[in-house]
Amino acid sequence: MTLPNLETALEVERDHKHLTEQMARFKLFVKSEPEPEHYSRWRLEFLWQLRDFKNRLLKHFDLEEEGGFMEDVMVMAPHCARQIKELKKEHERIPVLMDGILAELKAMTKMDSDKLARIQSRISEVMGTLREHENQEHKLIQNAYYSEYGGPA
Ligand SMILES: [Fe+2]
Repeated sequence: MTLPNLETALEVERDHKHLTEQMARFKLFVKSEPEPEHYSRWRLEFLWQLRDFKNRLLKHFDLEEEGGFMEDVMVMAPHCARQIKELKKEHERIPVLMDGILAELKAMTKMDSDKLARIQSRISEVMGTLREHENQEHKLIQNAYYSEYGGPA
């Protein structure tokens, strides 16, 4: 059996940190209210930020799925197999939720406070799901890799 690669876990953890920073910037933008005369430009910027964030997230999920992290955890913590399977499913569900929000934003061709409030609340729900998701992965890493290597917790 090849030994799980600690560098893989560190890379995922680093990417989690960057993602959290990006999430904070994006959340700040989401809270902003457009000036009525700048609505179109503001919406375009919102769409781009949402798309960029989704793409960034997909790449993060690629790293976790293809980079060996999930396989390593599966080997080190086989009792977590069910949880890992659930996390993988969430990698598919979260982008779908984001696509729904993108479609809603795209359809809001005129400023509508109620619709905007709904979009903002859907985004904050997805962000909450994502934060919880990342926390679970972080704990898996702590438990699996660091107990194996005795590294920093
Ligand atoms: Fe993650």
